[in-house]
Amino acid sequence: MRRNIVAGNWKMNKLFSEADDLLFSLKEELDKKSSKNVDVIVCPPFLYIELATDIAEDSKILVGAQNVSKFDDGAFTGDVSASMLQSMEVEYCIVGHSERRKYYSETNEEIAIKVNKLLEFDISPIVCCGEILLEREQGLQFKVVEKQLTESLFHLSKEEFSNIILAYEPVWAIGTGKTASAAQAQEMHAFLRSLVKKKYGQNAAQNLSILYGGSCNAANAKELFANIDVDGGLIGGASLKAEDFIKIVNSF
Ligand code: PGA
Repeated sequence: MRRNIVAGNWKMNKLFSEADDLLFSLKEELDKKSSKNVDVIVCPPFLYIELATDIAEDSKILVGAQNVSKFDDGAFTGDVSASMLQSMEVEYCIVGHSERRKYYSETNEEIAIKVNKLLEFDISPIVCCGEILLEREQGLQFKVVEKQLTESLFHLSKEEFSNIILAYEPVWAIGTGKTASAAQAQEMHAFLRSLVKKKYGQNAAQNLSILYGGSCNAANAKELFANIDVDGGLIGGASLKAEDFIKIVNSF
């Protein structure tokens, strides 16, 4: 069944004590009152995963990572494998984020490999796609995301695909304060769902959660989430303050 999801992508932010504070505040607020119809995922830096899973244990928080190695194990300095994530009880992992594509030259092919590794260890990939500003200005946004999906996901079987969460993140909206309009988000989400329908059928398309990401905040979340094909958000900046993040969670 399609789920509403709000996922916080902390990126490279927070010192240990700050991460501890934020997680405790989230737990407290979510315990007090939170909509039952939304899953809350927190994706801290690797270093704080154990802290997050400990605090999340008897709370509504689910824990995700921000990246995974494309290799299994061995001499890959600095990498963290899917099996390691599984051993730390991580259930979700962001892959293909535009910052990884931009600063680490990640390709669709590498993202496909990472998706495979995660699925092998029962971790749900949150797969990001989205166009840069120039591509949107040239009207290429649909072509771009179709290529990203085809090359990073459409090798999966229907069963494997049922574990995927998709995130549409127009690159021009990430960290810029420039949100896609509700209509732009809905238009793209509907297009993404239509691609999935064509490839995997109506059920797979209907059951897929598609999150919007890119300057989504407490003020605009309600309007974005009200769209039929927008099933939640992948939140960067606004996930770093408990109050803001909880407001977004409660926007459903
Ligand atoms: P932002 O980031 O909410 O700060 O724009 C979203 C993301 O990159 O996942």
